[in-house]
Amino acid sequence: MSNIPETYTAWLTIATDIAYEAGALLKTHWRSGDAVHSKGYRNIVTAADLAAEALILTRLRSAFPNHTITSEEAGADIEDTPARWYVDPLDGTTNFAHNNPNFCVSIAAAREGVPIVGVIYDPLRDFLFAAIRDGGATLNDAPIHCSGITALPEATFAADWPREPQLRLELWARASRLMVEARTLRVLGAAALNMAYVAAGWFDLYLARTLSPWDMAAGVLIAQEAGAVASTLSGAPWTLERSDLVLAATPELHQAWLQLED
Ligand code: IPD
Ligand code: CA
Ligand code: CA
Repeated sequence: MSNIPETYTAWLTIATDIAYEAGALLKTHWRSGDAVHSKGYRNIVTAADLAAEALILTRLRSAFPNHTITSEEAGADIEDTPARWYVDPLDGTTNFAHNNPNFCVSIAAAREGVPIVGVIYDPLRDFLFAAIRDGGATLNDAPIHCSGITALPEATFAADWPREPQLRLELWARASRLMVEARTLRVLGAAALNMAYVAAGWFDLYLARTLSPWDMAAGVLIAQEAGAVASTLSGAPWTLERSDLVLAATPELHQAWLQLED
């Protein structure tokens, strides 16, 4: 990460410290029998989501008083500023509430709507995925790269399922075409972790249909910096405003997905 502005390096250092702190807090809540509340159809929240979010927002506001924040539980600051943070204090809440160990913290900063700095922390494995735009991606400070897989028969793909029944069936139909061609399917139940795993070369392709900016901001940046191709499911340019996403380890695999979609 040599030609990147020092400002962004400083942002990443602060975001990393905050993610470590929030991850440690999540660990103290995990398997502690926290109450689970419904906040919508197939959508839950726990005390851990709220505690981690409160910590992250306090730290970010103190470090960056002139930046705005969009965070899953607290919502979005209305004021518009060139720099905005996207916070998912606990990605994988359903796993967390079922005592399943696949969950993480995701924090990213975007400028003019483009993710610039991102960090995803899995506190149970102590995996810290990070990236600065044009600076490459790392796992625990060591560079990571997507797999070189170019053909579907060698590809392991991952997916996240929409909550709404009709959208779920639609994505299922698209994924089932892939299932016939690909090596296999894995489902982690934490969108940001799925994206980090593409970056690390552990998954080759990832599909999702109904994501929010806080699910994607860090993960897409980290995967892109590791070499992944990102687009909407139909191949349009990906932006933070989109909710569907395909991440492919190589341009060839991305093309293979688009051809399957035709
Ligand atoms: C959810 C998880 C899940 C994905 C959902 C997300 P949350 O985030 O990432 O894997 O399928 O679309 O909303 O609610 O656990 O932060
Ligand atoms: Ca999430
Ligand atoms: Ca969340």
